[in-house]
Amino acid sequence: MRQAGRSLPEYLKVREGVAMLDSCLRPELASEITLQPVRRHDVDAGIFFSDIVIPLKLAGVGVDIVPGVGPVLDKPVRTAADVAALPRLTEESLEPIREAVRLTVEQLGKTPLIGFAGAPFTLAAYMVEGRPSRDHLGPRTMMHADPETWTALANWAADASGLFLRAQLEAGASAGQLFDSWAGSLGLADYTRFVAAASSRALDHVRDLGAPLVHFGTGTSELLVAMRDVGVDVVGVDYRLPLDEANRRLGGTVPLQGNIDPALLSAPWEVLEAHVREVIASGAAAPGHVLNLGHGVPPETDPDVLTRVVELIHSVSPE
Ligand code: CP3
Repeated sequence: MRQAGRSLPEYLKVREGVAMLDSCLRPELASEITLQPVRRHDVDAGIFFSDIVIPLKLAGVGVDIVPGVGPVLDKPVRTAADVAALPRLTEESLEPIREAVRLTVEQLGKTPLIGFAGAPFTLAAYMVEGRPSRDHLGPRTMMHADPETWTALANWAADASGLFLRAQLEAGASAGQLFDSWAGSLGLADYTRFVAAASSRALDHVRDLGAPLVHFGTGTSELLVAMRDVGVDVVGVDYRLPLDEANRRLGGTVPLQGNIDPALLSAPWEVLEAHVREVIASGAAAPGHVLNLGHGVPPETDPDVLTRVVELIHSVSPE
């Protein structure tokens, strides 16, 4: 999950004096940062160090990640002319991403690497608002007020994300995760009408590669079936919904990923341990369970607690 690295002193050290998005475009550095949590916590897979806005940056859209704020664009994208003027992401510009993945996979050996990309709605939410927002009014207004412009923007984002994910999978990542972090601000009707097709289009860029695909969002308890129907192998569940209930809603059709509550990483160990055991028990209802957090690692998390959580999981569920 996003921000995993921020709790690690070795991450803060190598990032000193390097801006977030610049660190993603230096292959050796991005690879080193990807490997840090794998070495330290002995997790079963690495997640590629990058960001969902990297395809925008590589296409030439003015975007930065402002510390403590998140992605901020030089100029929000709000009109048909703004969308028409968006630059295309080229294959060549993705070379630093491919190189970082190649270096990482080489060093990971048998441990798989998970690649990822942002889903069109979440990317478009940043593009229309120009910065993080709580309720994403801009994109939600646009889809109704100017559906043609919305569709063009969502398709642009789908193609940029799809190419970004494809570059990672072709260079050796073993699975792909589509992050629709802010899809939870949509009702099911809007999700189905204005978003699902674009998310599917993003994944159309990689389906022929055959890698397992995971689809995750937050606040998406009401959207799980629609998110599965975009065409994925695993549905990621945030910390709000117990996995047995998510499995019931999905009719037992698909493996789940989730969903330790990040808030409990700072609770007393006994409380956290009981919660982790509950998540494992709850996930047993599903046809498969990839255990992870129900959203990002809070930066103040004690890294030793994360290591201990992984040890606990391996002791309960060695396979
Ligand atoms: O944790 C990891 O290092 C894995 C790689 C990763 C990052 N971003 C690096 C990152 C992944 C998978 C992401 C995805 C991402 N980026 C998402 C989807 C997942 C989610 O968390 O919902 C989203 C919404 C973003 C956009 C973004 N990037 C935000 C909102 C922020 C936080 C800004 C802040 O300071 O609070 C970022 C920055 C970011 N991306 C960091 C990392 C390690 C923190 C950078 C730092 O401060 O060092």
